[in-house]
Amino acid sequence: MSNFPSDFRWGAATASYQIEGAVNEDGRGPSIWDTFTHTPGTIADATVGDVADDHYHRYAEDIQILADLGMNSYRFSIAWPRIQSTGTGPVNEKGLAFYRRIAETCVENGVTPYATLYHWDLPQALEDAGGWLNRDTAERFRDYAAATHEALGDVIMSWITLNEPWCSAFLGYGNGMHAPGKTVGSDSIKAVHHLLLGHGLAVQAMRGGSRHSALGLTLNLYSVRPASRSEADADAARRIDGLSNRLFLDPVLRNEYPEDVLDDAGVNEWFAERSDDLQTISTPIDFLGINYYSRHTVAAPEDGVFSDPSIPSTSPGSELIRVVDTGAPKTQMGWEIHPDGMIDVIEMVHERAPQLPIYITENGAAYPDKIGPEDSVDDEERRHYFELHVDACRQALAKGLPLKGYFAWSLMDNFEWAYGFSRRFGLVYVDYETQKRTVKKSGLWFRDFLTDSVT
Ligand code: FCB
Repeated sequence: MSNFPSDFRWGAATASYQIEGAVNEDGRGPSIWDTFTHTPGTIADATVGDVADDHYHRYAEDIQILADLGMNSYRFSIAWPRIQSTGTGPVNEKGLAFYRRIAETCVENGVTPYATLYHWDLPQALEDAGGWLNRDTAERFRDYAAATHEALGDVIMSWITLNEPWCSAFLGYGNGMHAPGKTVGSDSIKAVHHLLLGHGLAVQAMRGGSRHSALGLTLNLYSVRPASRSEADADAARRIDGLSNRLFLDPVLRNEYPEDVLDDAGVNEWFAERSDDLQTISTPIDFLGINYYSRHTVAAPEDGVFSDPSIPSTSPGSELIRVVDTGAPKTQMGWEIHPDGMIDVIEMVHERAPQLPIYITENGAAYPDKIGPEDSVDDEERRHYFELHVDACRQALAKGLPLKGYFAWSLMDNFEWAYGFSRRFGLVYVDYETQKRTVKKSGLWFRDFLTDSVT
């Protein structure tokens, strides 16, 4: 652990739908992920998250495992439909009690809880009313966030409003790979605005309550490079950097949307009519969380035509951009491994907000693990991935960047969205038949690293 400040946060992250199961227990209402996974053809291995890791019943064991790895922090998410089954109305005390149990178990084990309020499980009733394409959802999110913060703000002091609004908007409403599985073309960019508005409204409402916590937002940022020195490829990089990074960082940290991105997508007028919302969206936050996995190298379409709005895509206005394989090693997700890209994205935030503390709130890798002899999982490739990225954190600190913590994705194998159970990201292996947990070599490496037996 040499070269890391003693107050550095080391943790692992999870998300409610990916681990909890118990989808019908204690008053939980249906979310868009229940509907989506139960729709044939949506999930690669046709599985659903009804049981997942059964964490709803096994949370104490799981938090104990995290503490035994030497971690001092746990990032988990709160399922909105456990707190308000239809996304509105009075809070469900049983739902709140579950997250209080999680937070208290953390504290008893010397672990600081970090709660994410929205890691994608939108109450289905709100989707039926238009979901994130409907401005009203932002206000419903504010009410849910404020009530949850008020109820649990005595035991949870660090809160993240949204996880990766890029995914909610562009996978949920752009290419339809995630719930709710809609493909609305350039309108998907309007979902970005409503998500960011929900974030800003929530921060304001949480600050207005009686609890005093650190409030932040988690974005999935990408290091983006052009495939060549050509002007066309530079334009491709500008567009992808715009859609993945600037579209989120600029409104939140600079009080402005990137005009070029709105131009490409043909939505300037719609955004201009809502420019008053920027004040809310840029409400000061206490930290920014970055989920970092990979770098994108992009090229312009050969005929120079960037857009075909009829193609369901995550890139409104730039649907035809190509992502280029640079030959770098990849994880099972096909994501290229570029640890130095993590420093790029930290710098991207830092240059916009020099005083803002930054956390890596997710970083990790999928590999096809197998249980080996004597109940071991030899995930050397994942261990190495973590070693490289922990080293990138060390380099970021050496550069003077205000990095305050690092959370591995994920504590344990879980339901990987559109891939179902076919992708494992855990430090801990989960046998989905028996629910047995086995710490992998990567987890043991973390334990040794955090307890100082390796440097
Ligand atoms: C991120 C998600 C997380 C997990 C990882 C692999 O985009 O936030 O839930 O699925 O990817």
